[in-house]
Amino acid sequence: MRQQWFDEARFGMFVHFGIYSVGARHEWVQNRERLTDAEYRAYFENFDPDRFDATALARRAKATGMGYIVLTTKHHDGFCLFDSALTDFTSVTACGRDLVREYVDALRAEGVKVGFYYSLLDWHHPDFTVDGHHPRRDDANAAALNADRDMARYREYLHGQVRELLTNYGAIDYLFFDFTYPDAVDGWPGKVAADWDADGLLALCRELQPEMLVNDRLGIPGDFVTPEQYQPTAPLVTDGVPQVWEACQTLNGSWGYDRDNTDQKSATMLVEMLADSVSMDGNMLLNIGPDGRGAIAPRDERTLAEIGEWMLLHRDAIVGAGHAPLTPPREGVYTRRGDRLYLHLVSWPMGAVHLPGLAGAVTFARLLNDGSALRTSVIDPAQEASNMTPAGGPEGTLTVHLPIRRPDVLVPVIELRLSDAS
Ligand code: GLC
Repeated sequence: MRQQWFDEARFGMFVHFGIYSVGARHEWVQNRERLTDAEYRAYFENFDPDRFDATALARRAKATGMGYIVLTTKHHDGFCLFDSALTDFTSVTACGRDLVREYVDALRAEGVKVGFYYSLLDWHHPDFTVDGHHPRRDDANAAALNADRDMARYREYLHGQVRELLTNYGAIDYLFFDFTYPDAVDGWPGKVAADWDADGLLALCRELQPEMLVNDRLGIPGDFVTPEQYQPTAPLVTDGVPQVWEACQTLNGSWGYDRDNTDQKSATMLVEMLADSVSMDGNMLLNIGPDGRGAIAPRDERTLAEIGEWMLLHRDAIVGAGHAPLTPPREGVYTRRGDRLYLHLVSWPMGAVHLPGLAGAVTFARLLNDGSALRTSVIDPAQEASNMTPAGGPEGTLTVHLPIRRPDVLVPVIELRLSDAS
């Protein structure tokens, strides 16, 4: 099964890097500020990623417990991080480096799965028509510009570049196309699957890389769906079939380096989001935007290091784990891997946690961070509550007794060994 490694990994790293990282004001800066090609060119001329170190990136991902990385080979601005015979708007021209080559080589050497992001939009290409997302849309001659633009020619370029990416870099595990917008935007028509010849593009992917996973943003179904900056609250099912999904999430709301943005999520929140994703049978793709020199920003490095410390101890509750069809107690969420059920405690209860339906189903309970055993008991359901004793839980409730001191980890996890793994 194509997606087996992906289901297993559960946690990946998204990397948004390009000449917008030099602008350091979000990867849509050209669009948001309606920068002309000439104005935006300054970031190309001064692109000097001397601190872009693909090996360091791969090691950081591994140390954070991530099994794969997805790098922006081209973003909406059209700038390519790879050597292309079809354009010289590339990192090879800008700084003499094929960053995709460095990336692929480093990830393979480190045993990390290789993902590409590729933008369907291209604000640099002379044939990509001006639309509601295009930086030129407010120009006086915006509509007239389209008279000379020809999406058929752009399509050829797009297919040619995808062919290059899927031919020149060996086996690729994952491809994230971005994105289709069928509805009109500010009065401009959107762009639909036919604009990309989505069927042809997907067929090309299948022909060149039959094992590669492809996402759902071509405007036709792919191998998995990609909720963006929100968390699904239930496993996703389409026509009765479970849907493979991956939530992509940012550290501060921006994908590309955004120097003055301080909306940094805490490592605790991110671990909770990760556990939440796995509890609903999904993956989480957590983004970093390397800075203008290509380095992981110190604030991001610190967050990833904290998550990595947690993953070192709690990996078994995430990697290879998935949804458990049980209602968790109000303090947390469940994940499950084989005969192990994991309770991720988002709040720490005083003295004990009560687990409906699990009386008689658990042979051993322990804290996952230090492997310390936890006492369990079943309170007699008939017992009346008094002001000195709790009422018995509903029939079948298992009580797990906890130390008063919450373990000093981002999210404590109780591992429950089930007597029946089915
Ligand atoms: C969006 C944005 C983009 C980002 C992507 C990540 O569609 O256009 O900047 O790369 O989502 O999922």
